Amino acid sequence: MESQAVASKLSRAAIFLVATLNDGEANLNSVRAMCGDLAGFVRAVGFRDLDGGLSCIMGFGSDAWGRLFGDPQPKELHPFREIRGRHHAMATPGDLLFHIRARSMDLCFELAMQIMTRLGGAVTIVDETHGFKFFDQRDMIGFVDGTENPVGPESVNAVLIGDEDPAFAGGSYVIVQKYLHDLKRWNDLPIERQEAIIGRKKLSDIELEDAVKPSCAHNALTSITDQDGKELKILRDNMPFGEIGKGAFGTYFIGYTRSPSRIERMLQNMFVGDPPGNYDRLLDFSRATTGSLFFVPPATFLGSAGPAALSSAAPASPSTK
Ligand code: HEM
Repeated sequence: MESQAVASKLSRAAIFLVATLNDGEANLNSVRAMCGDLAGFVRAVGFRDLDGGLSCIMGFGSDAWGRLFGDPQPKELHPFREIRGRHHAMATPGDLLFHIRARSMDLCFELAMQIMTRLGGAVTIVDETHGFKFFDQRDMIGFVDGTENPVGPESVNAVLIGDEDPAFAGGSYVIVQKYLHDLKRWNDLPIERQEAIIGRKKLSDIELEDAVKPSCAHNALTSITDQDGKELKILRDNMPFGEIGKGAFGTYFIGYTRSPSRIERMLQNMFVGDPPGNYDRLLDFSRATTGSLFFVPPATFLGSAGPAALSSAAPASPSTK
């Protein structure tokens, strides 16, 4: 079972497309056909720049999965659960996610355009974000972002479903949230205050010592463990984005995981607090404007999908190319 490029290297450029399915069997069939054609599209666009590292991950919301593929459903696939705590993690519509990554934006843009041209009127894009990596892998708030991501086998173990759901082994879950920062207020904070909020030094990226790190630091609230004290990791590929003229400066959060419950626990800690009230102060300066959960089936599943795959987890006929 071959997985999609979930655990692949973080990239310098990305396009995040979230779309909803338009009504009608013909539209569903167009999307099923696209599943089977996606790998060929990535090969065709990617081959034009051999060092470009182009990849594309396709994910499905729970409602879309039912409409496209029927039963069985991946065990933990459900709509994004909004959280109303000290801050609001809103749920927003999303049937399909395309996470397109490459070393440069031209590759991402060309692939996004080709995919959408082929899909025609079958889907409606509800959010399109073009992300870039800032200096030293920093995010828009000026901190290095991604340091504690798992690598190698640890990252595969963090993101890919195993024996817990054998029918979908090799798949993954992904949660996306688009955050807008109040950059003026954030930049007005003393650096030491910012560091206490994140839990790391701003310039050197060194983690604050436990003795001085507040329990509400971002990296304290998002470090979670299982009942044996083993850390439960996720894989993030956050990207800054923005529009200077509109004063819009943001971070596109994207987290891959073998179980959405991990990210849901982190979100609960951030938005409600651990214990309740001890919430993530980063949210006083960052507002979540979207929130969606998707299942990322194995590449083998996508590759064998096609217009005839109406209601089976193992799609019936391979697409014609
Ligand atoms: C760590 C930024 C949202 C989960 C970090 C770090 C930064 C950061 C700068 C420290 C460096 C690193 O290890 O990567 C942000 C920003 C966000 C955001 C700007 C949006 C405004 C989230 C969300 C989650 C999350 C929504 C999960 C629900 C994590 C995790 C770590 C982390 C798991 C690593 C903790 C550790 O093991 O030390 N984030 N983050 N982040 N963040 Fe976020």
